[in-house]
Amino acid sequence: MDHKQKRLFSDEEILSWIGEVTDQEINEVHQKSLVPFYDQIWESGDSSYLKQYKTDKEFLDCTSQAWTSNIGFSNPDVAFAVSHQLKTLSHVRYGFATKPRIKFIHKITSLTPGNLKKVAANAMGGGASIEAALRLAMINKPGAQQFYTYTRSYHGSSLATMSLSTRFAGVTRFKPWGLDRVAKIPFPYCYRCPMGQEGENKCNLECLELAQNLIEYGSVDKVCGILMEPIQGPGGHVPAPKRYIRELRKWTEKNEIFFIWDESQLFTRIGHWFTSEYYEGVTPDITCLTKAIGGSLPMGVTIAREDINGFNSAEEHSTFGANPLMFAASMVFMNYVERADLLKNTREQGDYITSKLRNLQKRYDYIGDIRCPGLMIGIELVNDPETKTPGNTLAADLVEEAMDQRVIFGLMAPISTDSGKLFRNVVKIKPPLIITREESDHILNVFESSLEEAIDYL
Ligand SMILES: Cc1ncc(COP(=O)(O)O)c(C=O)c1O
Repeated sequence: MDHKQKRLFSDEEILSWIGEVTDQEINEVHQKSLVPFYDQIWESGDSSYLKQYKTDKEFLDCTSQAWTSNIGFSNPDVAFAVSHQLKTLSHVRYGFATKPRIKFIHKITSLTPGNLKKVAANAMGGGASIEAALRLAMINKPGAQQFYTYTRSYHGSSLATMSLSTRFAGVTRFKPWGLDRVAKIPFPYCYRCPMGQEGENKCNLECLELAQNLIEYGSVDKVCGILMEPIQGPGGHVPAPKRYIRELRKWTEKNEIFFIWDESQLFTRIGHWFTSEYYEGVTPDITCLTKAIGGSLPMGVTIAREDINGFNSAEEHSTFGANPLMFAASMVFMNYVERADLLKNTREQGDYITSKLRNLQKRYDYIGDIRCPGLMIGIELVNDPETKTPGNTLAADLVEEAMDQRVIFGLMAPISTDSGKLFRNVVKIKPPLIITREESDHILNVFESSLEEAIDYL
């Protein structure tokens, strides 16, 4: 029997639905959308560039669109794999394996550090992978419900992951769920040390001592885990010091507390597959990935130590969580990074941009701090290097000016307090990992001229 389904529409017909929009459709869409979006419409993407609809202007994107498209937009190898898989089998429900799913699990566990060897994936991204990690921790430590996360952290926008994240006071208009199970400890943010110390390596890790004290004596319930972005992303690109991570790891092991990492933004972007490599072999019990790992398709991954018991089928599943397209795209992503030696390029371009920025810092007091590693670059702007007043306006103007020069820079998430403090002063440079030296120079030139313009506006 021939099961081949026939095409119902011509190419032209389909393209007439998705290929063009009228001015009227553009103007009226905002009234029909529950969420706001920018006026800018992107037509297409190619390597590190986005093309604007109607104007055909090209922009070099140093945000990789939410730090995801690490091997470039519309990567042709990903396009081939996804279209092949789409034509072969477009979807299966969660309980089923497919060839790409099996290949994916073997590939990712060939790259994981230490004994992180058990995997679950989803098609919803980072927040879902983190919720899965918390569920897994609770399954493996029965009766323990209490989690600790960090000030200035971000772990997602669901009702549960918002309670794990920093409080965006004045930004969200409701309270997340699960706050009774989460408490915050201070992130080791050395440029603005929460303990008033002088900076990295000029202290006795007083912030860690405080965290340990709070956990040991302040917990209302049995402690299950500590969730941490070892290098904070949305909170301003802040790497925790290596000795902090080392000491905390020893302590969590001793106290049998799960150490869970959120590597959503970090996987490959820091010039290593996994953040453990940056932290000289320190490995968490469970880690979570999203963004780049999906090769531009939606994907979240939870990876646990091999001795950790997995889920039953009621505890981790979702409608699209076994979608074979994302596994196909992810396979291409990982192989592409290897074949094109992109981790090396990431380290080289990252070191180059960062060292040039450090030279620039000598000439501009407004550059308070420069943070990396790899192509996870953050520049903290301040109005005054002594008081470190956040240069929020400076950062916003710089990003706007660069946009006029067709380079897209990112900004940290807005962190505000009830007392009226606002931090949105870290400019982010996170282009696809394929950028060349010439593009790095261009990024630096635009950064400097935009900074100068922003200073002029002050
Ligand atoms: C560090 C970090 N964790 C978690 C998330 C949440 O991921 P998602 O939006 O895919 O749920 C993000 C997203 O920006 C993130 O940057």
